[in-house]
Amino acid sequence: MALYAIGDLHLSLSCDKSMEVFGPAWENYTARIEEALGILTEEDTLVLAGDTSWGMTLEEAEADFKFLDRFPGRKLLVKGNHDYWWCTAAKFTRFCEEKGLRTLELLHNNCAFYGDYAVCGTRGWFWEEDKKAHNVKVLNREVMRLETSLQAAGEKPILCFLHYPPVYQGYECPEILATLKKYRVEHCCYGHLHGAVIRRRFEGKRDETDFSLISGDYLGFIPKKICE
Ligand SMILES: [Fe+2]
Ligand SMILES: [Fe+2]
Repeated sequence: MALYAIGDLHLSLSCDKSMEVFGPAWENYTARIEEALGILTEEDTLVLAGDTSWGMTLEEAEADFKFLDRFPGRKLLVKGNHDYWWCTAAKFTRFCEEKGLRTLELLHNNCAFYGDYAVCGTRGWFWEEDKKAHNVKVLNREVMRLETSLQAAGEKPILCFLHYPPVYQGYECPEILATLKKYRVEHCCYGHLHGAVIRRRFEGKRDETDFSLISGDYLGFIPKKICE
């Protein structure tokens, strides 16, 4: 029994957006994910930290969801900036019921429990977003979502999964970092960084929180074991 996590699978089984064009790190990545997920058992939980499917709609993402659902164990999906299929939890649950998908859940404005841990998560905030209009409003909404998720943890120790890195060489998001600190998050995993920018990741401790990058290409598409 283990909790695993990985971000940025960027699956594209029903649309033509394979990431293989991005070089050797992405070579044959769907087959490599398939092999790596073979370790999962019914008791395991896998957190997918955003950018899971290139599908623009639930229907377009269905093949990717089916691919993930074939593996045993619970899958918790966090929103990434490329998850255009994202919808409300109610709509997602209904879609899964209709399509016979049994293992997928959204981690959004809520938290899940794994052993003694609370598993929290949301998309987060990154400097790329600063360039967009209404950024203060959107940042505040993201911080509120994170806070709602962290509050749901109650007294349990917290593992938090964000899509965007809250800290990175040359950048930090003080509002997100302060929220992680306030709730004494033990471990914060994030994705989104690919290719050359991976070298600017922040790994290790800051205040009471350990940070880890878990993007698929960084992990060689092998999910990181977070705890047993
Ligand atoms: Fe990504
Ligand atoms: Fe991303």
